[in-house]
Amino acid sequence: MKSLIRWTTTAAFAALLGVGCTETEIQFVDREPFNPPPDAAAGYLGYYTPGTKQTTCGNCHAGGQGAWAQTRHAGAWVTLQNSGSAQPFCAGCHNVSELGNAVDSAAGYNKVADSAYFDVQCESCHGPGLNHVVSVSAGSVVRPWASVAVDTVGTNGCAGCHEGTHHPFVEQWSASKHGYGADHYVSYGGRSPCNQCHEGRTAMRLQFGENASYVESDSANFQPMMCATCHDPHSATNEGQLRAPLGEPSRNQLCVKCHSREGHPEPGSATRRGPHAAQGLLVIDEDVGWIPPNFQYDATKIVGSHGTAANTRLCASCHVYKFDVNDAATGDFLLTSVGHTFEAIQCLDATGVPVPGPCALTERQFGGCAVSGCHTSVDGARSAFVSARSRMNFLTDQLWTDDGDAVLEPTDGGALPRVLVQAIAANNLNEINLYDNVLTPAEGAIWNAQLAYTSERTYWSGFTVQGQKSCTPTATCTTQGSSNTAHKSSGEGTHNPFLLEALLISSIQYLQSFYGLPAPPAQLQAQMTVPPGVRRVK
Ligand code: HEC
Ligand code: HEC
Ligand code: HEC
Ligand code: HEC
Ligand code: HEC
Ligand code: HEC
Ligand code: HEC
Ligand code: HEC
Repeated sequence: MKSLIRWTTTAAFAALLGVGCTETEIQFVDREPFNPPPDAAAGYLGYYTPGTKQTTCGNCHAGGQGAWAQTRHAGAWVTLQNSGSAQPFCAGCHNVSELGNAVDSAAGYNKVADSAYFDVQCESCHGPGLNHVVSVSAGSVVRPWASVAVDTVGTNGCAGCHEGTHHPFVEQWSASKHGYGADHYVSYGGRSPCNQCHEGRTAMRLQFGENASYVESDSANFQPMMCATCHDPHSATNEGQLRAPLGEPSRNQLCVKCHSREGHPEPGSATRRGPHAAQGLLVIDEDVGWIPPNFQYDATKIVGSHGTAANTRLCASCHVYKFDVNDAATGDFLLTSVGHTFEAIQCLDATGVPVPGPCALTERQFGGCAVSGCHTSVDGARSAFVSARSRMNFLTDQLWTDDGDAVLEPTDGGALPRVLVQAIAANNLNEINLYDNVLTPAEGAIWNAQLAYTSERTYWSGFTVQGQKSCTPTATCTTQGSSNTAHKSSGEGTHNPFLLEALLISSIQYLQSFYGLPAPPAQLQAQMTVPPGVRRVK
């Protein structure tokens, strides 16, 4: 059969098969396309030339070969040898084997320890390629698609190797909101336009331009944010093989692509949904917040060092923090925590292993904040966190201090209840109507307070407004305003304390002048220490 597979030009081959090969992807050379597979039973072809890391697949898929060769997968065997502690059981994950693909018993290097199988090659993920290459020669291509689903119980896909105490990516990911535990990818995954962020495959296609050539492409089962949603299996263009840059403070940054749904109230639309995944927009200060007419700062950008290129890993500095956990008594290795719970300041158990929260501040991991170039100590970071959060609490309290029932009512403290008293006296049922399409200053201020949400003032994420309408002004509806929602955007103040402070101070002052309210009791000058790079007009 080998003699059949001799092509010298792409054009001739494409004509033969009637498929649209592009020259950059497929290259045909005048030589035998594969060697006899060492593990003939399974049919893994492995390296064509081990010394140059030339895969058999790469004989035709030249572009794939070039990109893959830059990834750490291509150096996995050497890494293992250089570790000085290589043992037979290590081999499967650092070589081509049944791990990572649909084969379910020992195969590849785990069957025949041949140098053709060194490293994590194409077939680690795509499975044995013999049938594919033969099918190409036969003129009817059997496509060796890889799987993108995260196989949390078996050995298929990335999960086949990226698991266990040294690299518990799958275990941590499973516990995260990006994993199968999250419910919104199921409930909203099928709904456009939600699916570009809430369904993993759609996000791969729409956010990252990835074509759907994998096992699950036609499946009706929705997927959450999978490994392959964020990571490119083939390319090392971005750090960590990510599909988008990590350190670029723009909407093109990996996390910001999704964590950026709604940052400001849209003119002419209802505000009852509040900010939606505005974390990314807050961090980089883009299209975020209600800007009161009296806003005295440079409205183009107010960012702290968390939101500039000086923070080279941006969101991941805090949300993807890797550290080792050793037993305090014996010093024995327990676990490498790989940061794939995606939680900032994770809760740790008594041994130091991350566990689901909530927990006391003293049990939280502030290590990610204290890496070189950032906060000088864990204690310093913790107190910066506490003071940012209390500043948010203090400022939002000036707008509204609830008495515990999550109903904004005249008897509550702060400026908004005073606005409500005026509105009710004037028989105006729409001053704080979050369902109509008119944005009042009171509603703008509510938006900013929701943006500054902290876990100590939960009522901002869902409350009712007494005596005000919750529908369009013409419609008849109960005058008791019904519930609204807002997401946790501010990272307890951490995401951009400077901008949040500026927005809240201006909002409070604007309500005072617009509604003729008594001066707020507290002094409102900006108190946050302005870091280098923050641009303020006054
Ligand atoms: C003899 C040339 C040749 C070799 C060797 C080869 N392929 Fe292919 N491959 C093709 C052609 C031709 C196609 C179909 C045309 C296309 O997809 O552009 C294809 C298609 C594919 C596809 C499906 C692409 C899609 O968009 O659906 C995958 C995946 C793939 N090959 C992976 C591999 C892997 C893994 C190996 C190594 C085991 C390999 N190929 C070896 C020529 C080859
Ligand atoms: C379950 C699959 C699996 C097994 C078994 C395995 N490794 Fe790994 N190894 C990996 C993965 C996945 C990575 C990449 C981890 C990362 O990037 O955090 C890795 C990375 C490494 C690294 C690079 C340093 C690091 O931690 O990033 C070394 C060294 C290493 N492994 C050595 C070994 C040795 C020695 C053994 C056997 C005692 C072994 N591995 C067994 C999957 C495995
Ligand atoms: C770490 C696992 C992994 C490795 C290694 C890997 N692939 Fe893939 N490959 C995938 C996954 C997952 C997909 C589907 C998602 C995507 O396209 O990014 C895919 C898609 C493809 C496709 C179809 C879509 C496209 O991007 O053109 C081709 C062709 C392909 N791989 C070829 C290769 C070749 C050739 C190699 C080796 C040089 C290789 N792959 C190495 C996991 C891998
Ligand atoms: C056959 C086992 C195996 C499979 C399957 C596998 N990996 Fe890996 N991966 C490794 C090993 C081993 C390393 C460490 C290599 C080294 O450091 O030399 C690694 C390293 C990585 C790295 C580190 C890159 C960097 O620059 O820090 C990323 C990211 C990664 N893998 C992602 C993936 C993704 C995504 C998939 C699935 C599409 C996958 N891997 C499938 C074994 C595997
Ligand atoms: C929401 C996006 C996202 C998802 C989903 C995701 N990762 Fe990551 N991963 C990251 C980021 C960000 C980093 C940090 C990269 C860096 O700092 O260079 C990272 C780092 C890694 C690394 C390299 C760690 C090192 O040693 O530098 C590996 C390996 C990895 N991820 C594997 C996986 C696997 C396996 C899965 C699925 C179980 C997965 N990731 C899911 C975003 C993601
Ligand atoms: C493809 C879109 C996408 C990307 C990329 C993405 N996320 Fe997410 N993320 C989501 C979605 C959707 C959810 C909510 C899932 C749910 O609750 O159903 C989420 C949830 C989260 C949560 C939990 C929120 C909560 O309420 O507890 C954190 C933290 C998070 N992401 C951080 C990150 C970080 C950090 C990155 C970049 C490394 C990132 N995300 C990249 C879509 C994405
Ligand atoms: C641009 C990306 C994007 C789009 C589009 C998007 N979302 Fe989200 N959504 C996210 C992210 C990221 C999160 C997680 C972070 C957060 O909760 O703020 C999230 C969280 C959620 C949550 C959980 C809130 C919570 O606090 O637990 C719900 C519910 C939700 N989205 C519903 C929807 C619906 C319904 C749609 C479509 C009408 C939609 N989303 C469209 C990015 C998006
Ligand atoms: C300087 C550290 C830091 C940076 C940088 C950072 N965050 Fe956060 N983030 C936090 C903290 C602290 C929290 C609050 C965690 C808590 O209360 O448990 C948080 C909360 C969140 C949440 C809500 C989860 C929850 O449980 O409240 C999401 C989603 C999120 N961040 C996404 C992002 C994204 C996306 C980026 C990058 C654009 C980012 N963060 C940058 C520290 C940071």
